Amino acid sequence: DDAFTSAMALTNSGVPQVPDRYVLPPSQRPAIGSSTSIRDDTTLPVIDLSLLHQPLLRPRAIHEINMACKDFGFFQVINHGIPLSVVKDALDAATQFFDLPVEEKMLMVSSNVHQPVRYGTSINHSTDKVHYWRDFIKHYSHPLSKWIDMWPSNPPCYKDKVGKYAEATHLLHKQLIEAISESLGLEKKYLQEQTEEGSQVMAVNCYPTCPEPEVTLGMPPHSDFGSLTILLQSSEGLQIMNSNKNWISVPYIEGALIVQLGDQVEVMSNGIYKSVIHRVTVNKDVKRLSFASLHSLPLHKKISPAPELLDGNNTAAYGEFSFNDFLDYISSNDFLQERFIDTLK
Ligand code: SIN
Ligand code: FE2
Repeated sequence: DDAFTSAMALTNSGVPQVPDRYVLPPSQRPAIGSSTSIRDDTTLPVIDLSLLHQPLLRPRAIHEINMACKDFGFFQVINHGIPLSVVKDALDAATQFFDLPVEEKMLMVSSNVHQPVRYGTSINHSTDKVHYWRDFIKHYSHPLSKWIDMWPSNPPCYKDKVGKYAEATHLLHKQLIEAISESLGLEKKYLQEQTEEGSQVMAVNCYPTCPEPEVTLGMPPHSDFGSLTILLQSSEGLQIMNSNKNWISVPYIEGALIVQLGDQVEVMSNGIYKSVIHRVTVNKDVKRLSFASLHSLPLHKKISPAPELLDGNNTAAYGEFSFNDFLDYISSNDFLQERFIDTLK
């Protein structure tokens, strides 16, 4: 079925059940409210980034980042320097965008994943076997002046509000990647130099209210293929997998941002840090928005573990490859296609 129907259109039409294509096999359903899905005895790390700017306290923040990256490949940040007004403005522009009439949004629909601005539903509506309860607009975001003219002209505030958030996120990414470098015992500039010519893609997601949140997901389990993802959520819905393979719901903290390690950092750290596997649940009563700022190395760049991080026998846990090689590799492997699904968006 190639017809395009957004999740938003289904919600607005008042369907009492999700269409069959959204129904997951029982083993992959989120088990909302069950004890296997959510363990509230686990506290996920929240790091105060203002410590990074205080010489006496920076080591403490670096240590907290090291622990969080080892244990989860994930942490939330507060006092990160992006004003709450910038965050709220970005969410406001996204709300207005997804509320536009469908004809307006369809101007940007494409199943070509290389399109610099792309509106869509699920992951790729023309190839997905199972569909996910999610609409999105994705756009290249750095350097901003190169791409912003192609971004949505409606709502009229979109370019300004989302542009300000994208620039602020780009600066924050720089600080985070330096701190992560330092937390691995590497030169502060090591990862930054590797990511210098890299890309920033902003995925703006909308998960409308869903009549049957227990049988479907907003996003399937996956890790992000890039170096780092900075994520903003408007309400709870993101879950991460911990080392015991339990799904943990990420609490909503107003103004906080979520940092997720991607596969490229896993490789460069020689596996000392792991990329985090995550998924998105949907909700019967609350529409959820998120901004995923996906930071990534240049596709052609060969990456490999940092030489300082090889073990006593000098063995690298990963071979040298570029992400172009990686994309070719995973397209030939069904299992990996599931885990690294972001690459195929
Ligand atoms: C994503 O994994 O790209 C989206 C996460 C979210 O919506 O929280
Ligand atoms: Fe993701």
